[in-house]
Amino acid sequence: MKHWRIEQVAWDRFDPSRVDPDIVPLVKAAAMVEKNGSDYALYLNGVFHDDPDFRQAADYWAQEEIQHGDALGRWATLADPSWDFDAAFRRYREGFKIDVNANASIRGSRTGELIARCMVETGTSSYYTALGEATQEPVLKEICRLIAADEYRHFKLFYDHMKRYLAREKLSFLGRLRVAAGRIGESEDDELAYAYHCGNEAEGVAYDHHRCIASYMARAMGYYRYRHIERGMGMIFKAVGLPPRGRLSDVAARGAWRLLQWRCGRYRREVAFAPAAARAPASPQEALRAAA
Ligand SMILES: [Fe+2]
Ligand SMILES: [Fe+2]
Repeated sequence: MKHWRIEQVAWDRFDPSRVDPDIVPLVKAAAMVEKNGSDYALYLNGVFHDDPDFRQAADYWAQEEIQHGDALGRWATLADPSWDFDAAFRRYREGFKIDVNANASIRGSRTGELIARCMVETGTSSYYTALGEATQEPVLKEICRLIAADEYRHFKLFYDHMKRYLAREKLSFLGRLRVAAGRIGESEDDELAYAYHCGNEAEGVAYDHHRCIASYMARAMGYYRYRHIERGMGMIFKAVGLPPRGRLSDVAARGAWRLLQWRCGRYRREVAFAPAAARAPASPQEALRAAA
């Protein structure tokens, strides 16, 4: 049921001279979050326990997310042959857990759960589009293009199911907006920051949420262009029930763009001025060099 297979990627076109070293830590972190999709499928199976159609769709969805993780992990291993994806992922799994036994959504309703999933897919679809356009490395470009297309299909999948539940549960507009805004705000929580830590920091370095999210965002935010934010805003508007194109979404996109630039600048200053001891090494080798 997958739309592509990892073996179809032209891995032999990998060109180390075109790897942007700032992208590698982002790809390592993203690989782990994506590969963790199986836990989300368990959670969604619990929340939608009496909806076999959705449960089946969630299982296929998770297979695609896991493949995203495997493809990104494989690319990161080409870019940094000393990186141990399996070990990093094991560490991540041990430290970051979601409630796979829940039988109701943490968003308060199934409609809310599906809106939250739409926000995640909006974020990933925009992010991989931005990374794919920014990178000059042909294999990463191809992977990002394939993943971004999957993420957009995932958005549509969750959106269609959301419409079905909305007709039944009648979650108010404000209720939808609250869930959407809440989930967007969570993008700077531990899921990504801890993945950055496990993927990029040496085992002995203690996890520091703020340092990790700043290191991640200082790099990631710089790859976005206005068009990615504009398109993402259209998807957010659609998910909460507002017209995706128009004056209001334009104003919101311009506001989000300014906010992104301001936050990117702030994170970059924080990383640049962090005391050397607190600055995260980009790789275990860098940690060894720093310790020598
Ligand atoms: Fe994904
Ligand atoms: Fe996805």
